[in-house]
Amino acid sequence: MDAEHMGADLDEILFTEEDIRQRLGELAEQVWQDYADKDVLLVGVLRGAIMVMADFMRALPGSVEMDWMAVSSYGSGTKSSGVVRILKDLDTDISGRHVLIVEDIIDSGLTLSWIRTNLLSRRPASVEICTLLRKPEAAKVEIDVRYVGFEIPNAFVVGYGLDFDEKYRNLRVIGTLAPHVYS
Ligand code: IMP
Repeated sequence: MDAEHMGADLDEILFTEEDIRQRLGELAEQVWQDYADKDVLLVGVLRGAIMVMADFMRALPGSVEMDWMAVSSYGSGTKSSGVVRILKDLDTDISGRHVLIVEDIIDSGLTLSWIRTNLLSRRPASVEICTLLRKPEAAKVEIDVRYVGFEIPNAFVVGYGLDFDEKYRNLRVIGTLAPHVYS
């Protein structure tokens, strides 16, 4: 789906496909250097991170494993509740593994902070976070994020895996949702 297919539902395009591809390439290069002598396991958080994971892992110049978790944090609204429930757990035993969580967006940070603590309790060798987007103004918890694609303003964004009420995930670009859609 292209931006024009959204009509008035899209306020502004923040990142084009090319912007995203280029930035993920840079992050992949950095990650590959940092994990040069380590076997990294990518952990994606369903469903928003599917596009990021697909493009990020293909940008890595060598083989990596991936696994997925699904948690519930958002309902049909646009605010994080901080209440997290595991809907699908990892299939992989991560004890002793170097885990890199691949995320689409960090808003309040509540969801990721919970996931990180949960994964750390399984005794991995390390847990780091790579997110395509971060909203710094919305941070409710201090969370150490090693790799950040873009810092964005505190607006609700959709596209490239990010949804509003399960819609717009297949939009190629990332853009801000017009307030009339959710207010
Ligand atoms: P947090 O707990 O507030 O950091 O929210 C985490 C999750 O909320 C993300 O993984 C997204 O699924 C969702 N989310 C947060 N902000 C947005 C947004 O602007 N657009 C779409 N989904 C969002």
